[in-house]
Amino acid sequence: MDRQTEVMLLARARETLKHAYAKYSKVHVAAAVLAVDGSIYTGVNVENASYGLTVCAERNAIFSAVGQGRQRFSAMAIVSDSEYINSPCGACRQVMTEFSPDLEVVLDSPAGLFRSTAAQLLPGAFSMKEKEE
Ligand code: THU
Repeated sequence: MDRQTEVMLLARARETLKHAYAKYSKVHVAAAVLAVDGSIYTGVNVENASYGLTVCAERNAIFSAVGQGRQRFSAMAIVSDSEYINSPCGACRQVMTEFSPDLEVVLDSPAGLFRSTAAQLLPGAFSMKEKEE
């Protein structure tokens, strides 16, 4: 993604970070995803007393977009206040790949700046698409 898009999406993610519900881990994460039509959807991590029910910021941003009729994305920015967050988790990589293998990802946290694409993050992703002969 170009620098202007990156700065804009990171800003959108940063302003959403205050909504992260990270009562248990204290690790706050927010994401902003850019759909190909130019619309932007944000999400935060939402934890639960039953820990396994937690959903990451990246998936919440994508699911919010899908619920509003967007299924193709070009870029995503992720921010966190924790150095534990240095790249997206495996489940989020699978969900990114479902909709946009060419999704460009930038992540900013105390661990540093990380840039990649969904396809690079999840080589050999599971897919229900028929294999090309
Ligand atoms: N988390 C995310 O929101 N995104 C990731 O890619 C990795 C982890 C959240 C889940 C949990 O609420 C907290 O970070 C600590 O794992």
